Amino acid sequence: MSYDFNEAKEHIVNSYGRLDPVITHGEGAYLYDSDKNKYLDFTSGIGVSSLGYGHEKWIKATSKQLKTLVHCSNIFHNEPSVKLAKELTEKANMNKVFFGNSGAEANEGAIKLARKYSYDKYGADRSTVLTLLQSFHGRTITTLKATGQEKFHKYFFPFTEGFDYVKANDLEDFKARLTDEVCAIMLEAIQGEGGVIPLDKEFVQEVVKICNEKDVLVIFDEVQCGIARTGKMFGYNNFDVEADIVTVAKGLGAGLPIGGFLCSSKVADVFNPGDHGSTFGANPVVCAGASVVLDELCNEKYFEKITKRGAYVKELIEEAKNPQIVDVRGMGLMIGIKVKCDPTLVQKEAIKKGLLVLTAGKDVIRLLPPLVITKKELKIGIDIILEILSNIEN
Ligand SMILES: Cc1ncc(COP(=O)(O)O)c(C=O)c1O
Repeated sequence: MSYDFNEAKEHIVNSYGRLDPVITHGEGAYLYDSDKNKYLDFTSGIGVSSLGYGHEKWIKATSKQLKTLVHCSNIFHNEPSVKLAKELTEKANMNKVFFGNSGAEANEGAIKLARKYSYDKYGADRSTVLTLLQSFHGRTITTLKATGQEKFHKYFFPFTEGFDYVKANDLEDFKARLTDEVCAIMLEAIQGEGGVIPLDKEFVQEVVKICNEKDVLVIFDEVQCGIARTGKMFGYNNFDVEADIVTVAKGLGAGLPIGGFLCSSKVADVFNPGDHGSTFGANPVVCAGASVVLDELCNEKYFEKITKRGAYVKELIEEAKNPQIVDVRGMGLMIGIKVKCDPTLVQKEAIKKGLLVLTAGKDVIRLLPPLVITKKELKIGIDIILEILSNIEN
């Protein structure tokens, strides 16, 4: 049966500007479409398919769990979720975790947790959460407001109150906005949707120091840059700081939906039964798969591999000295290529040449390949991008 674009138009809400390929299956770092075209995937479903496609151990673990117990809800205990919680908190060096289903849900939970911590200790008027300009934290009414980009603050009024926005890497602006009403700051170590922009280490270190002094909680949104993506467990581990709350999603599930927030011991017991919940959260199948992700990717050996691969990609791009390229940035296998041309043109051309890439903002080609991608595959993809850029007139 062939895919009917008209049917899709008729029955699916028109909220995405989709690209043409109808993806049918994947293998390793490659995806295939309904016309039997093969694509090298530098998108991993927007940072999700960390293990690539058809990963044997992950399939075995999830299939086994599918046959035994798919769901039971959180009114009962289930073993895969406790196993994952133990492994994840140990690897993250955090105290406890709450499991939900998506990045936005993870951030919502983190914001609730921060506000309750502050309410319990200081009363009602200390509820503002600072985020950064150019940040992205999700699509719910609250996380849209948490997102520091004006273009997301329209149509859906009234938004949740209690957010203010700091200029990234501007310590004076941060200090000016850190009023007595602030209970937390939420940061992406590398702003993903905002253009693959890593924060300055000195800025992050100073912000964390000041927040600790004032008992303002530090939340790292690791939805996109966490779980080995940058060559460390979390993006913020590159800055040698500690977090009070860490949110995760995307790559932890390797294709199945998961989200969650990790708590330091300071906030681990803030919630009591009834304060928070999620029907699908801690799903046994998803958790069984996520345990494989941690086992395969979240160890020193693999971190080193990712770091080296990322450095290799940057080297290839920098060596090319292509006049269209303004900047190459990012960490590990989260890479942004700032270009002079329209990155969506490159994205469309790349599809014709068998490569899938993402964009971020108006001028960045964003690369989030599966973390299991080989050096050889990275070279193939980068060569395609460079060839496309070489054919664009300055
Ligand atoms: C940093 C960050 N936070 C939150 C989200 C929202 O995640 P989800 O789409 O799973 O709700 C995203 C999604 O791209 C993200 O990149």
